[in-house]
Amino acid sequence: MTQDELKLAVAQAAIDHITPAILDGEIIGIGTGSTANFFIDLLAKFKGDIKGTVASSEASAQRLRKHGIEVFELNTTGTIAVYVDGADEANERLELIKGGGAALTREKIVAAASKEFVCIADGSKLVGQLGAFPLPVEVIPMARSYVARELVKLGGNPVYREGVVTDNGNIIIDVYDFMISTPRKTEEEINNITGVVTNGLFACRPADILLLGTADGVKILK
Ligand code: A5P
Repeated sequence: MTQDELKLAVAQAAIDHITPAILDGEIIGIGTGSTANFFIDLLAKFKGDIKGTVASSEASAQRLRKHGIEVFELNTTGTIAVYVDGADEANERLELIKGGGAALTREKIVAAASKEFVCIADGSKLVGQLGAFPLPVEVIPMARSYVARELVKLGGNPVYREGVVTDNGNIIIDVYDFMISTPRKTEEEINNITGVVTNGLFACRPADILLLGTADGVKILK
């Protein structure tokens, strides 16, 4: 199977998982990235039934609206029943690295506001230890150099992601060579650096269920 076929398979599995919530009139949280895009396209067949969504990026909001699916502001919806999103890396504790598409802050907000976080990914994203994928950190622009120096002190190799401005008007620093043995601690330490908006570790709020696309079918990790 190709990677796209694996992504489509997990997107379909997520649709099956959340169909009761859609039919119950719940608001659905929507992630960002290529796997989330497969999910959005499949969600379109529910456009007559679905009450609405909250999107974790402008890109996903646009894609949803193109399908005729309503997108609400999070401030108007209250708690979200279920959030579906991809990941750049996942471990068996369902801790994640996210933010390859620079949407990490809004993704983290929507995940935090959701009762259930369903992560969808192809099998290549499952790792023993997080950190081979460079860890994205969203940073207030004027703090770029200061934050980079602090990240070096934590043992990483920070690289400014040239030309990228987040939906919140900030920049991204990717931290290379950072094998993460204690994800919660690392998430908190980086978030404590002044000027950091948030980082792409989802360990304090991991996924609740991971649907993993493999050649043998969709595996479910809880
Ligand atoms: C977006 O900022 C990311 O967190 C994505 O969810 C993540 O990069 C996964 O993207 P793909 O589904 O494209 O691999």
